[in-house]
Amino acid sequence: MADASAICRSHSFESDEEIDGIRKRLLTWYEANKRDLPWRSRKAQSLNEKAYAVWVSEVMLQQTRVAAVIDKYKIWMKKFPAVEDLAKASLDEVQELWSGMGYYSRCKKLHEAAQKNTKVVNDLNGIIPTSCEELAKQLPGVGRYTAAAIASIAFNERVGIVDGNVIRVLSRLRRVGVAHNSKIAENHFWFCSNKLVDEECPGDFNQALMELGATVCTPKSPACSSCPVSSSCLALKQVHEQRKFASSKFSKTDNGSLPDIESSGCSLCLPPTEPWDSDKGVTNFPRRGKKTAVKTEEFISGVTSFRSNDIDYYLIVKRPSTGLLAGLWEFPTVPFLSSNGEKKIQLLGHLRKFLSEDELSEVEIRESKTVSHLFSHRRHIYHIHKIILSINHQTSQSLSKDLVHFKWVTEEELFRLAISAAVKKMFEASGDIVSPNVGSKTRKRKLNGTQQSLEKFFKSK
Ligand code: ADE
Repeated sequence: MADASAICRSHSFESDEEIDGIRKRLLTWYEANKRDLPWRSRKAQSLNEKAYAVWVSEVMLQQTRVAAVIDKYKIWMKKFPAVEDLAKASLDEVQELWSGMGYYSRCKKLHEAAQKNTKVVNDLNGIIPTSCEELAKQLPGVGRYTAAAIASIAFNERVGIVDGNVIRVLSRLRRVGVAHNSKIAENHFWFCSNKLVDEECPGDFNQALMELGATVCTPKSPACSSCPVSSSCLALKQVHEQRKFASSKFSKTDNGSLPDIESSGCSLCLPPTEPWDSDKGVTNFPRRGKKTAVKTEEFISGVTSFRSNDIDYYLIVKRPSTGLLAGLWEFPTVPFLSSNGEKKIQLLGHLRKFLSEDELSEVEIRESKTVSHLFSHRRHIYHIHKIILSINHQTSQSLSKDLVHFKWVTEEELFRLAISAAVKKMFEASGDIVSPNVGSKTRKRKLNGTQQSLEKFFKSK
């Protein structure tokens, strides 16, 4: 909790009566209004099974909207119904299923945690730890939030939870106006959620708080008139007081002034430099922290293909097993260094890692398009080239190799693999780069007008 001497009392839940009231109203509302979600209705044979089901859902729900998770969750639980099934699967299989949900390190860590050589299956005989503390300690990738979710929902441990939805609800209920991601705010939200959480139904209470944030106490247009805890909401109280003040000023019956709710010196109140904005109402809370600067990096990518029996085959390469998008498949890509000369030359140089000179001897390179994709804290700009090779199954050596780090796939196979949303965008963008022979919406220049050999291409530079 924040230093008690430096914060107003209003930021905490002081009376047991108020806490009891919030618990009762929130739980009653949840019972009547909760969404029918697959992880809520799933029947489990044991607590261990339930913990696994909650764990998967909570990891999927981090950074991803409920609507985008539902189908993935159902497919996942069909394919990996128990933690042992997940442990047995290959990372490729697991990432394929995750494909499209982003933040792939979550999936890798979940798999890692379930794997034989990690805690759950090996050291713990398949038993998932049952306390919040042990969950966070034992399982890779399980932080304070996921541990609290599993412990409270599956094992009924009385522990509060803090995620983006809870932050919004709590910051409005208690008028926490300091940047929500500051250490002092984060500690205070955990303090409040631990104080509020229901003793008998901690799992339902935590889900109710998150559900309220997701469906009623929304970021931009909260439905305060439908909120079960609006009578305890200090942000809403401030809206009412401000309205009363405005109308009394208008009618000139009151010459008092708006009570100064922000107390100077309190480290959780709205900062005096950015005070209450009457146009925003309750959405004055939570206050955003400073945005982390997004770093932009540029790459050159080659959507490289050949055609055989009317089927297009695409070259894809596996990313390294650590770092961003670890282990996912992508089109051959190199960082774009403007100092290294022409993009096409850099790209063809990179393709030599996978393809022989023979395979690269007849190549058509079509003009590049640019695709931009925002990852969590990075923007990648890809300069896309469509590269068409004149090889076939008989002449290609790379087709017959036992390929672990790169392979040729059809479009259908490509979309079944573990690929990021950026790769999907690139593929679509390359589809717009049509051949001058096909007659097109966007006619593009073919390199030197005709197909040419790579050898000649390099020599001519
Ligand atoms: N967001 C993340 N987990 C949730 C849950 N269990 N219920 C509602 N919203 C959530």
